[in-house]
Amino acid sequence: MSAEQDRQFIKQFSMVLVGLVVFTGIIIVVALSIHGQLELSDNPARDIARSERLAPVGGVFAGETGRAAAAAAAAEAAAAAPQIAFDGSLDGGLIYERACASCHEVGAAGAPLMVASAWDDRLDKGMDELVANAINGIGAMPPRGGRRDLSDEQIEVSVAYMLDMLE
Ligand code: HEC
Repeated sequence: MSAEQDRQFIKQFSMVLVGLVVFTGIIIVVALSIHGQLELSDNPARDIARSERLAPVGGVFAGETGRAAAAAAAAEAAAAAPQIAFDGSLDGGLIYERACASCHEVGAAGAPLMVASAWDDRLDKGMDELVANAINGIGAMPPRGGRRDLSDEQIEVSVAYMLDMLE
């Protein structure tokens, strides 16, 4: 290889290197400007949903650090969980359909069906006691029909809805 060819190669090669350095600089500038344009989300629900989507599926926790990580993950999940079912809806029909019908529509576990004859004796207890029993659980019915996130008020409107159906 002649000295002339060497010079030629070094020249071209340094141009490629300079080109790459310039290209890197451009990418950094573009990345910084995009980062600057990102708006911080003002929607905590979306943040939670996103972190749930990004969370590892079936994370494996081992050892001391694992225990801490598992506890942190559990605490985060608890904090993210909605505190009141159905966004606090007081629509008795909606709550009944989603939380009560599974038993009361088919008589599962001996649940009284939504026909007047099944409720004759129960109605004598009065609304207050029926609601209290639905909140605390009675016989095979778990407290709040198994939905601990239902508020007392939500149980009350769904019981009222159920009794309305009997008429
Ligand atoms: C897992 C099945 C199940 C679900 C879900 C369920 N129930 Fe019940 N429910 C029962 C059973 C079983 C009984 C009868 C209990 C008994 O008298 O021994 C009952 C009884 C009742 C009674 C009558 C209580 C009384 O004092 O006689 C009311 C009121 C009631 N349920 C309301 C509800 C409401 C409101 C929901 C939804 C939030 C609901 N239930 C969801 C199983 C269920």
